Amino acid sequence: MKNNIALGASLMCANYLNLEHDIRLLEENGIDYLHFDVMDGHFVPNFGLNLDLLQKVRKITTLPINVHLMIEDASHYIDTFIDAGCNSLSFHHEANYHVQGLLQKIRDRKVKAGIALNPATSLSSLEYILNDLDFVLIMTVNPGFAGQPLIPATLEKIADLKRIIRAKKLAIDIQVDGNVSFENIPKMVQAGATMLVGGTSSLFLKDLSIPEAVQIVNNLL
Ligand code: DX5
Ligand code: ZN
Repeated sequence: MKNNIALGASLMCANYLNLEHDIRLLEENGIDYLHFDVMDGHFVPNFGLNLDLLQKVRKITTLPINVHLMIEDASHYIDTFIDAGCNSLSFHHEANYHVQGLLQKIRDRKVKAGIALNPATSLSSLEYILNDLDFVLIMTVNPGFAGQPLIPATLEKIADLKRIIRAKKLAIDIQVDGNVSFENIPKMVQAGATMLVGGTSSLFLKDLSIPEAVQIVNNLL
């Protein structure tokens, strides 16, 4: 954690064939949390990491695990993912009915509760759940795939959310996910992001090792 910015690593961008090795490197280099993307092939046109892998990863690391559910109707799976040992959990506003109740359910289990918003989803959807949130995940690309370019309007959205949080004196973190690159990190942080998700745009680059990449990010914070 540098200057109150938490740096997370997106496990879907790690080397699946040598995942434990990557996790050890992330631990040794001071990553703050692991970001764990779950996809159902419906809400997003892709499949992501699953429960079985989460249980296995939980056994080998004490790093906080932040689960991002990109699935339709997460209500049946909240307890299951918490039982598997995640420390914070977000689900999408667009894909769920009883959003307030689900946030409450997560907090009742002493896990940090977050809501994820697609780029097109308005911040007004947060108006009546602000007191139920520990963090908001602002998707800076459309969810589902690594390696996409940043959608510029999302930078404004981060800044708008920061203004709301400040005005209401709330303690809500702003997480950013998607094209969190060396170029975009300063803009995201400047706008108000406090939790970064490093994927193929920063921590898992082809010509840079994880320690080198973490060092570059730390110099930007
Ligand atoms: C999308 C995922 C990705 C992932 C990507 O649903 O959540 O955004 O972490 O990292 P980048 O955009 O850097 O490849
Ligand atoms: Zn994610």
